[in-house]
Amino acid sequence: MSEGYAAVLARVAQRKAELFQWCRQQLPADEPIVLEFGCGHGHFLTAYAEAFPSRTCVGIDIIHRRIEKANEKARKRGLDRLHFLKAEADEFVEALSGHTRVAAFFMLFPDPWPKKRHFKHRMVQPDFLEAIAGLAEPQARFHFRSDHTGYHQWTANHLYAHPRWDILPEAMWPFERETVFQSHMESYHSVIAQVRD
Ligand SMILES: C[S@@+](CC[C@H](N)C(=O)[O-])C[C@H]1O[C@@H](n2cnc3c(N)ncnc32)[C@H](O)[C@@H]1O
Repeated sequence: MSEGYAAVLARVAQRKAELFQWCRQQLPADEPIVLEFGCGHGHFLTAYAEAFPSRTCVGIDIIHRRIEKANEKARKRGLDRLHFLKAEADEFVEALSGHTRVAAFFMLFPDPWPKKRHFKHRMVQPDFLEAIAGLAEPQARFHFRSDHTGYHQWTANHLYAHPRWDILPEAMWPFERETVFQSHMESYHSVIAQVRD
């Protein structure tokens, strides 16, 4: 193994250790949280946390500047149960495992990675759905929304095929707040699924 690759592995291990510690220091072990993947500037989750101030909410995104902006919003509004954190979705799910459970998941307008050779970069993957099912409270729901028809179908198909999720075709989106990307879209599609008991 080259020294360069060893350094990459060490950095990943360090990042995962920090996420693991952050979860245990910042999040309650005895109360399920609400988790948004790819929260961007935090518009949706900030409005959600204002509407439900007793819930602990966490939004994660891989872009540092977006997380900074989102945390500014939370601070200005005095929402001390709302957290935004720079983290990659799979790594955060791994870090959270074994500490606290999740009552609701949101994923709004994730990057669609439209080319077939890039589908592997989409956040929704069978392993990801398995991992979040492992964090889910009984009856927890995964809420997905996209303007990209192909990604919407991909997600619906993966949820349909997955043994731990049931699509709820009649379920209503539980809380509306336009996100930055939503405001640029003429139309979009949502899918909601509930974890199987
Ligand atoms: C198209 S933007 C949508 C942002 C926001 N949800 C909205 O609707 O305005 C997708 C976001 O997902 C984030 N993202 C992409 N891959 C991610 C990953 N693996 N883990 C966490 N966030 C990710 C990007 O940095 C970006 O902010």
